[in-house]
Amino acid sequence: MRLVIMGPPGAGKGTQAPWIKEKYSCCHLGTGDMLRAQVAQKTDLGRQAKKIMDQGGLVSDDIMVNMIKMELDNNKECRNGFILDGFPRTVAQAEKLDDMLGNKSQPLKHAVELQINDDLLVARITGRLIHPASGRSYHKVFNPPKKEMTDDVSGEPLIQRSDDNEDALKKRLATYHDQTAPVTDYYRKTGVWTGIDASQEPGAVWKSLLGVFEKGA
Ligand code: AP5
Ligand code: ZN
Repeated sequence: MRLVIMGPPGAGKGTQAPWIKEKYSCCHLGTGDMLRAQVAQKTDLGRQAKKIMDQGGLVSDDIMVNMIKMELDNNKECRNGFILDGFPRTVAQAEKLDDMLGNKSQPLKHAVELQINDDLLVARITGRLIHPASGRSYHKVFNPPKKEMTDDVSGEPLIQRSDDNEDALKKRLATYHDQTAPVTDYYRKTGVWTGIDASQEPGAVWKSLLGVFEKGA
């Protein structure tokens, strides 16, 4: 599996990616999760990134490209393939990724866009709860944990992301339409793009994804 999973905030990238990882035994590189780990560790990058993330902006292309390159080169879980979730987010990132994969003779197989109308995303984002250590996400209504505010697997507390409020979401959506939507056109041109309906319930989205992977790009 060599996959980019795209879609606006709340489309379901982080919900579907662990299922894909399990089925195809590849790594799941979520750039938002990686940045939140830097914030939690209070690194310099984490401090800079938190401000940008809370305002719904984008961290610089160079930082993000290097972060992904490090993982693809060194993370043993990625030997069998990868799922990129939240990257690339600009056409410049997509071009750099193609260069990187071209050098390894491991071109991208699929760029799947989770397509969904903006008005469905407010409820998904404002109801989300996450387990910071694993990146697992739940929803107060659509996917509640077994025990209130507690991760099903570790028993640790769940939290809300600091960018999961209506104001930050508006800015994240504007950034998505402005800077990330052109990446879908880029992948249409390179022939790896498929769009699927992400407004369906999670199990139906999963079946649509499997349909894409099984028929090939
Ligand atoms: P990131 O963490 O990538 O955030 P995002 O793109 O805004 O996406 P989300 O994580 O909000 O959405 P998701 O699609 O994963 O939704 P989920 O599955 O959790 O990035 C955060 C920030 O980091 C960016 O804003 C930027 O500042 C920075 N950044 C990251 N990458 C970068 C890059 N490459 N370049 C520059 N900056 C970068 O689902 C959402 C909720 O809905 C959950 O509660 C879930 O349970 C529920 N749900 C999921 N699917 C369904 C369904 N089918 N039906 C009903 N509910 C559902
Ligand atoms: Zn996510």
